[in-house]
Amino acid sequence: MRQYRDAHIFMDLYKNLIRPLLFLADPEVVHHGAMAALKVAGPVLAKFAPKPDPRLARTVFGVTFPNPVGLAAGFDKNAVALPAWEALGFGFAEVGTITARAQPGNPKPRIFRVPECAGLINRLGFNNDGCDAVEGRLQRLRESGRWPAIPVGINLGKSKIVPLQEATEDYLLSFERLKGLGDYFVLNVSSPNTPGLRQLQDRAALHELLGTIQGRNTAGRPLLLKIAPDLDWQMIGEILELVEEHKLAGIIATNTTIDHAGIPAQREQQGGLSGAPLRARSTEIVRFIAERTKLPVIAVGGIFDGPSAREKFDAGAALVQVYTGFIYEGPGIVKKICRDLVGR
Ligand SMILES: Cc1cc2nc3c(=O)[nH]c(=O)nc-3n(C[C@H](O)[C@H](O)[C@H](O)COP(=O)(O)O)c2cc1C
Repeated sequence: MRQYRDAHIFMDLYKNLIRPLLFLADPEVVHHGAMAALKVAGPVLAKFAPKPDPRLARTVFGVTFPNPVGLAAGFDKNAVALPAWEALGFGFAEVGTITARAQPGNPKPRIFRVPECAGLINRLGFNNDGCDAVEGRLQRLRESGRWPAIPVGINLGKSKIVPLQEATEDYLLSFERLKGLGDYFVLNVSSPNTPGLRQLQDRAALHELLGTIQGRNTAGRPLLLKIAPDLDWQMIGEILELVEEHKLAGIIATNTTIDHAGIPAQREQQGGLSGAPLRARSTEIVRFIAERTKLPVIAVGGIFDGPSAREKFDAGAALVQVYTGFIYEGPGIVKKICRDLVGR
C-alpha cells in the first residue's frame, strides 16, 4: 500500500505546483514535452515500476491484466513510451490511433483545455506516423527486451485521404501490419475529427468492416470496437448485434462527444469533448451495453478518481481507461484509483 500512499503526496504537488505551470503553455506543446520526457525516462522508471497487487489482476477476453486501469488511446499515438506506462502503474496501455498512412492531422491549435469543467476539446485528426513506422518501432522494442509486462492494445483508424468506401481495405492494411504485435486490437470508428468516420458505425458499413477484419484475424486476436457517445439507443443496439454476430471480443465505450452543451459558451471550439462533461453519458452507455450483452466493456470517459472509476465498474465495465483525468490529476491518478479499488 505504501506506493499508493506516496501517489497521494505526488498528486498534491502536481495539482498545486506542476499543473498551474503546465497549463500556462499550449496543450499540444506540453503533450510533446511530456512524451519526450517519458520516452527517455520510461526504461529507467520501468525498473521502479510498482509491484502489481494480485487482488487487482483480472483476465478479460483471454488476456491477463495486472490491474484494470489502462491508458486510453490518443495519448501515446505512436507507441513511443510503452515502458513508461507500466512504470506509472497502468494495467495496460492502448497505442494509436494508427492509420495505414502517416498523416499530419488537422491545423494547429487543435487541443483546448476547458478547466471550468475539467474538460478537453480536441480536433487532432489522427496525427500519427503511420502503420509502417509504428510496426518498426514496436519490433525494435520487442527485440530490445524492454517490452512492458502489461498488455498492449493497438487502436486502428482510417487514413484521411482514403475515401470512406475504401475504409475496410485501409483498416485491413494496418491490421495486417500490426496484428502480431498487440495483445488486443481496436477498430476506432468513432473519432469526430476524421470527416465521415462515424458513418462507419452504420449497419452496412460496419458489417463489412467487422466481417473483413475478423476474416483475416486468423490468430484470433481479441478485436474490439470503440464507439461514440453520440449514438442513440437504437444504433447502439444494432452495433451490439453486429459485434456479437462477428464475435468481437468487446466494446470500448466511449470516444469523445460532439455534444458541447455542458461547457461555457466562450470556450466553444470544434472537436471532441472529453473529461468530466462526458462522464455521465459514457457511464450510461456502459450500463446499456452491460445490461444487454455479456460483452466485456472497456469504459472510458470522465474518470478522474476512485469513485468515478467505480461508477464505471458498477455499471458493468470489465476494465477502465483514462486520458483527460491524467492531464488534470497527474500521473499519480493510476495508483490513486488502484488504491481505492484495493480498499474496496
Ligand atoms: C487529445 C486527445 C486525443 C485523443 N485521441 C484519440 C485517438 O487517437 N484514438 C481514440 O480512439 N481516442 C482518442 N481520444 C479519446 C480518448 O481515448 C477517450 O476515449 C476520451 O477522451 C474519453 O476519455 P477521458 O474523458 O478520460 O478523456 C483522444 C482524446 C483526447 C483528449
